[in-house]
Amino acid sequence: MNRALTIAIDGPAASGKSTLGAALAERLGYTYFDSGVVYRALTWLALERGVDVRDEMELVRLAESARIEVVRPTAGDGRQYTVLVDGQDATWSLRTPAVDHNVSVVAAHPGVRRAMTEWLRQIAGGGAMVMVGRDIGTVVLPGADLKVYLTATGEERARRRYREQLERSLQAEYDQILAEMRRRDELDSGRAIAPLRPAPDAIILDSDHLTVDEEIDQVLQHLALSEVATR
Ligand code: CDP
Repeated sequence: MNRALTIAIDGPAASGKSTLGAALAERLGYTYFDSGVVYRALTWLALERGVDVRDEMELVRLAESARIEVVRPTAGDGRQYTVLVDGQDATWSLRTPAVDHNVSVVAAHPGVRRAMTEWLRQIAGGGAMVMVGRDIGTVVLPGADLKVYLTATGEERARRRYREQLERSLQAEYDQILAEMRRRDELDSGRAIAPLRPAPDAIILDSDHLTVDEEIDQVLQHLALSEVATR
């Protein structure tokens, strides 16, 4: 692979985007960026500061003033990266039930999306990037060299989130996780701007029936084909 490509991976909650994205980036020597982090960081900050998650103007103001940084892991506690919000380590705070519950409301505001999309495009500007999210292939990077849409059944995704919570020694209830995930998927798929959906030219991978290695193989095969096509 000679060119510095850009790869977009989208899909619903816990469909395996971050596992595939990080593994693929490592394999290719690319940067991995999880765009959900920016929406989660803004949501966390809004909750901390008492900003109403329905107040678009206040949220946009917060987004413009906040310093959100994603850096290499600063602790060996299973994190893929460290997220600093105004200099404070917020990495695990972004995964709390309160953030899960409010993030899709924050992310549906057009003004919030405008600010974040602009920022995400700057981050991906140099190429050699694997970016994961909901609208990366459709809106943020419509010119990406390869677009992947990852699916899995709601039950399988809820099982994964349940196991992740237990591994982090958190209390977890499967039914509650499944219900919360369905609610978030509906909000993300039903919003007017940048709804969750596959780009027309995305390859669809069903992570229920594939191992991560099989997913990587499929992606690499598609990349090799598109390299030949553009040579
Ligand atoms: O990890 P999980 O798949 O549960 O969620 P995430 O990728 O961290 O994204 C959290 C939320 O941010 C999503 O439910 C969306 O509401 C929002 N999001 C978005 O609107 N656009 C993106 N590109 C990424 C995330």
